[in-house]
Amino acid sequence: MSQAYLNGDYMPVEECSIPALDRGFIFGDAIYELIPVYANQPFQLSAHLQRLKNSLQQTGIDNPYTDHAWQQMVNQLIEYEDSSQCSIYIQVTRGVAPRDHAYPSEATPTIFAMVNQWPSLDEKILSQGLSAITVEDIRWHRCDIKATSLLANVMMKQRAIEQHTHEAILVRDGKALEGSSSNVFAVRDGCVYTAPKNNLVLPGITRDVVIDCVRTCHIALQEVAVTIEDLITADEIWLTSSTKECLPVTQLNQQQVGDAQPGPVWRQVYDTFQKLKVV
Ligand code: PDD
Repeated sequence: MSQAYLNGDYMPVEECSIPALDRGFIFGDAIYELIPVYANQPFQLSAHLQRLKNSLQQTGIDNPYTDHAWQQMVNQLIEYEDSSQCSIYIQVTRGVAPRDHAYPSEATPTIFAMVNQWPSLDEKILSQGLSAITVEDIRWHRCDIKATSLLANVMMKQRAIEQHTHEAILVRDGKALEGSSSNVFAVRDGCVYTAPKNNLVLPGITRDVVIDCVRTCHIALQEVAVTIEDLITADEIWLTSSTKECLPVTQLNQQQVGDAQPGPVWRQVYDTFQKLKVV
C-alpha cells in the first residue's frame, strides 16, 4: 500500500479522502509535480520545487509551504517506501468552496502527495525503442503550467494506445511540440532539436537535464520545434520525462525512424544521463 500525505497527516493512500467540493475535483483547479527518486534521493528536487512554485504563482494558488517544508515532506515519504527507486507525486488544489468558476475569496489549498514504486526501465524498450504516432495538439495555450486538468492529454494518449503505440507526439501549426506526457527531441544531421520553452510546452525537468547532457557531449543543439515533415524524416527521435528518462522512438506512424534502432546520438546522451543518477 502506498504511503500518502494529506493536509499535514501521513496515511496509506487508500485512507485519503477529499471532499466532493474540492475545486481539484470539480474544476481540475489544481497543479502537480512528479519527482523521480534514485537511491533514496529525489532527483533534481530544487528544479521540481521551482516549477511547483511557478505553477502555483501562475494560477494564483497560495504556496502553502516553505521549500524546507516541501523537502521534509518529500524525504518523509521516501523513508516510508521500501524500494530505493520510486516517485513522489504532489498535487495542490485551490481548496474546497461552493461551486463557482471564480476564485473563492477564502479557500485553503488541499495538499496531497504520495510515493509510488517505480520499476527500472524495461530492457526491451532500451534495446528496441518505443513507438509513437503524431496527433493534432488539442490543448489550451498554457501548457507551461503543470495543471492536473489533463483531459486533452489523456484523450491524445488514448489514441496512441488504441493504435498499439506508446506515446502521442503533439503537432500544432505543423510543428512537433512535445508528447502527451513527455518532451520530444529529434536528431537531424548530427544536430539535436527540441521545442523552445514557451506557453505551448511543459518546461520538462528531464528536458533540461538532457540538454545539459547533449552539451556535455559537445553535440550541436537548437531549441527549435521541428516541422512534422522533419520529424518523420529525422535520424533519431527521443522522448524525455521524469518516468521515461530519455527513451528512443524507433517507429513513428508505423514507419521506421532512421534505421529502426536506438541511435548513436541517443546512446551517448543516455549514458551521460545515467552517470548523473549516481549520487
Ligand atoms: N509528465 N510534457 C508533458 C505534457 C508532461 O506531462 C511531462 C511529464 C513532460 C516531462 O516533464 P518532466 O521531465 O519534468 O517529467 C513534458 C509527468 C511525468 C506526468 O504527468 O506524470
